[in-house]
Amino acid sequence: MACRSWKQWFCSHNLHRILMSKRQKLRNPFAEKVFYVNPSYKTSLETSISSASGKIKDTLESMRDIPSAYWLDNKGKIKGGSTNTMEGILEDAANKPVPELVLFIVYDLPNRDCHAKASNGEICCSYKSDGRCDYTDVSDKFCSAGLKEYEEEYIDQIAEVLRKYSGRVPVVLVIEPDSLPNLSTNQGDPRCGNSATKSAYEEGVSYAVKALATADPYAAIYLDAGHGGWLGWKDNMKDFVKTIKGLKVSSHIRGFASNVAGYQHVGEICDTYDFCLGGNNNDHPCCADPCDLIGQWNPSNNELNYALHLRKAMSEGIQGFMPHMIIDTGRNGAAGMRSECKNWCNIRGAGVGHVATIATANPEVVDAYFWLKTPGESDGCTQVLPDGSSCPRFDTDCASVDSIGSRNDEPRAPEAGQWFDFQIKQLAENARLQ
Ligand code: BGC
Repeated sequence: MACRSWKQWFCSHNLHRILMSKRQKLRNPFAEKVFYVNPSYKTSLETSISSASGKIKDTLESMRDIPSAYWLDNKGKIKGGSTNTMEGILEDAANKPVPELVLFIVYDLPNRDCHAKASNGEICCSYKSDGRCDYTDVSDKFCSAGLKEYEEEYIDQIAEVLRKYSGRVPVVLVIEPDSLPNLSTNQGDPRCGNSATKSAYEEGVSYAVKALATADPYAAIYLDAGHGGWLGWKDNMKDFVKTIKGLKVSSHIRGFASNVAGYQHVGEICDTYDFCLGGNNNDHPCCADPCDLIGQWNPSNNELNYALHLRKAMSEGIQGFMPHMIIDTGRNGAAGMRSECKNWCNIRGAGVGHVATIATANPEVVDAYFWLKTPGESDGCTQVLPDGSSCPRFDTDCASVDSIGSRNDEPRAPEAGQWFDFQIKQLAENARLQ
């Protein structure tokens, strides 16, 4: 919102920003909004619709009108006129009869995806001779060069675009999937636990939240919270609360996004977050547990119970903090398709899940179900790419028994983020959209 007319004094003292950021946290940012549908996603779907038939084709066609997030996974996607950029999307959304809500994923931290290889990014704390990140080299101890690049060439650019549309287009931002969960539980991995990666993630996320909240006080910001099968144990949750508390950003955020690019099911919500623990309520539908988490003393058997757990732990650990959630339903329409729930890469037999809605099982806690990971975009490549060359970002987890491409009769998987025709057809075949 620009500072004009009688509001000038109010604005010049930045009071409107303070008021706005307080106000937006009181209500669900998705409420009463039309959600933006990405033209670029429609285009990707078209390429698969043309070679599909029957039920799969029908489902793919219906998916063309379903909103999904847009990933700002490199600097090149921020500015420009086309709807393959943040700026172009916001311009398009601003010109709709009623400006539509756009959801962006902010995803370009230095040393990105430290615990895997599939989504290693463009900004590094230290570079190898092939231009990729050297995750274990800490000659730049606190990643100062990488952070400078991230802040100036990525976050500040996003902030500039946000400022231009602030108050005109409703925006939701999900910040840096996997980064803080990796800091909480993967400190034993030298690629995540060293001083450079740690500083990159802590400083980077904190800078991103503050700069983006200032640029657009209307924007609703959610941090990534992994999923119930990751941080759902009480001990892991404690570590995560500590990580979040340390960043001192809770007053700027609406809450957390869970299951981003994950396959954990939404399930049914229980009355309390740990209702299923101890084996007393095994038969209750809210205790259905395809990953056998309860048996491993993890109360977060589904993403709704995980949301309750997270809300309770955060509100108890951080004074005045009552976070709300978004659950990624892009690929969790089917349940029980994995032989091991630790597998995360292009899971065979998965289906797209609930379409974007605010009618969640507990609107007090869960603001929306939303397709965050773009269904049909690969999680990571097989060792050999579809064109026969070897994949530079191959992660052995993408050769898991549950990953498409690990069987001889399946096609090879392309790089993370690339369109995977075989996968989207499976996702459509097993869809459960409501
Ligand atoms: C990839 C990104 C991509 C996103 C959405 C991530 O796994 O690393 O490049 O934009 O998924 O598909």
